[in-house]
Amino acid sequence: VTRVLSGVQPSGEMHLGNYLGAFRSWVAEQDQADAFYCVVDLHALTVPQDPEALRRRTLEAVACLLAVGLDPARCTLFLQSQVPEHPRLAWLLECQAAFGELRRMTQFKDKVGRHGGEGAEAGVSVGLFTYPVLMAADILLYQADRVPVGDDQRQHLELARDLAERFNHRFGPTFTVPEAAVPPVGARVMDLQEPTRKMSKSAASPQGTVLVVDPPEVLRRKVRRAVTDSDGEVRYDPARKPGVSNLLELLAASAGGDPTTLAGQFSSYGALKEAVADALVALLEPIRDRYATVLADPGELERVLAKGAAQAREVASATYDLAAERVGLLPPS
Ligand code: TYM
Repeated sequence: VTRVLSGVQPSGEMHLGNYLGAFRSWVAEQDQADAFYCVVDLHALTVPQDPEALRRRTLEAVACLLAVGLDPARCTLFLQSQVPEHPRLAWLLECQAAFGELRRMTQFKDKVGRHGGEGAEAGVSVGLFTYPVLMAADILLYQADRVPVGDDQRQHLELARDLAERFNHRFGPTFTVPEAAVPPVGARVMDLQEPTRKMSKSAASPQGTVLVVDPPEVLRRKVRRAVTDSDGEVRYDPARKPGVSNLLELLAASAGGDPTTLAGQFSSYGALKEAVADALVALLEPIRDRYATVLADPGELERVLAKGAAQAREVASATYDLAAERVGLLPPS
């Protein structure tokens, strides 16, 4: 049977990019594969976190995943920190990864860049640097065939593949070599205020980010105020018209169709924005309702996580034990 694994950081509120780029595929995969999904709280620690806020966001992330339609009876939903094999395998893989190949990771370079120019590397955590190796461990522990992610994770997936192949080559067959599964539309949702930047949890203006749980009137306001351009023509051309093209992609991803064809149906930006807002409200409103219900029952969240951790550990410990033996560690005595 096909294995699927993916993860999300609990480092902020879940947004439309997370949903269209990842969660929607996660829900679909539940019926096609043996699916494992984790909230990667260890990854969140790579940048400063307020402990109390991290605890709250972690539970909110789990609630959000249940609200979008993950079903603990059909998938394994767990917290990364509750499966100790993740950091253990990460160590084994770190000792196979080259310093230079981690240096080339563009997300690391971007994050370092954002914290200031020359010498900025000195101030970021070592965890931020080794982050992609922990991510590789997340994937390889479950022998995942497919990893449903948005476009921004492609390079990390390449690293996971390289590490799997290298390990297998050096020590004998141990890991399945995973493939990224990136959706045809919605893989790179752009910020509504700054359409040349991807939508993210750390955007400069909250107006540019649509949250999965935004109330309809807030969502509508954000879409209405989305940055477009001044030529007035509705046309799909991401390079020259990033704002309008993003709106067309959002419409395609939420209501169906393809962005170029959809463009022909609108003669004004206002009409396009209304259609996008309607489609997004229809898509997200049921999720928002379920989110409130799920979050109101912390006991149930605890039960889901306990069951998830037990299921995950069973698979993860078998893989870890094999990898540890392969590199020459003695079995536990
Ligand atoms: P994270 O938490 O940033 O995002 C979770 C998922 O959402 C996708 N995504 C987007 N898709 C389209 N448009 C956007 N604007 C957008 N923003 C985010 C991401 O591609 C991702 O699929 N490193 C990962 C977490 C991770 C992981 C893993 C993923 C840790 N271990 C193992 C897969 C497998 C991350 O930071 O995702």
